Amino acid sequence: MARQGSPDRRVARRANPAFVVAIDGPAASGKGTLARALARRFTLAYLDTGRLYRAAALLVLDAGGDPADPKAAAAAARQVSVRLLEEPRLREERVGAAASVVAAIPEVRRALLAFQRDFARQPPPPFTGAVLDGRDIGTVVCPDASLKLFLTASLEERARRRLLELREKGLPAIYEEVLADLKERDLRDSMRRAAPLAAASDAVILDTTALDAEEVFERASRRVARALSSPR
Ligand code: DC
Repeated sequence: MARQGSPDRRVARRANPAFVVAIDGPAASGKGTLARALARRFTLAYLDTGRLYRAAALLVLDAGGDPADPKAAAAAARQVSVRLLEEPRLREERVGAAASVVAAIPEVRRALLAFQRDFARQPPPPFTGAVLDGRDIGTVVCPDASLKLFLTASLEERARRRLLELREKGLPAIYEEVLADLKERDLRDSMRRAAPLAAASDAVILDTTALDAEEVFERASRRVARALSSPR
């Protein structure tokens, strides 16, 4: 039998029979909107992996803990359940900010990795494929994904979109504050040592600064259709 970590085992772990679309990019680049639309269009399961980090952050905050404390954050990450992923408070800005802090802790990332890989390898029935969005899907979680997309947009454009989103929800928001928050999150997500935000070398880069959601969807859909019809 192959020992854990032996080459045989590694090959087995990499084999991914499901069709997987990996979408990465910075905060407010439109990943979620695109991922949901692609999942609907191509009948794929969808996992917003940011929710896992948000759920871990929320558990720490609710317990009155410090998101930067590796022990508390890792313990919280191990308690994340599927049910918690539906919690509406996960979308709150304070939870997003804390998620970016817990996401920099390697033990947290390790604790959440298996869930993401299992979802990609065996999407919930009746789905035979999945879309996952996050920061390290194409580089770490699903390095053998069928298609990798990396969404970018200028900081100013992303701040504008986030501002609209917040105002649509009736939340008071100031452009300068949203911009500063995104800038800080970008820095933390891309400078951290553990699985930083990065485009995989084989990712298709989509700069959405001058595109609306529909144009992004059209372009991405063509890529997905091509990937679906090409032999793996
Ligand atoms: O996409 P989001 O805003 O819901 O993500 C919340 C935080 O979680 C974000 O600051 C980065 C982190 N994250 C991550 O490090 N890796 C992922 N795959 C998804 C999110």
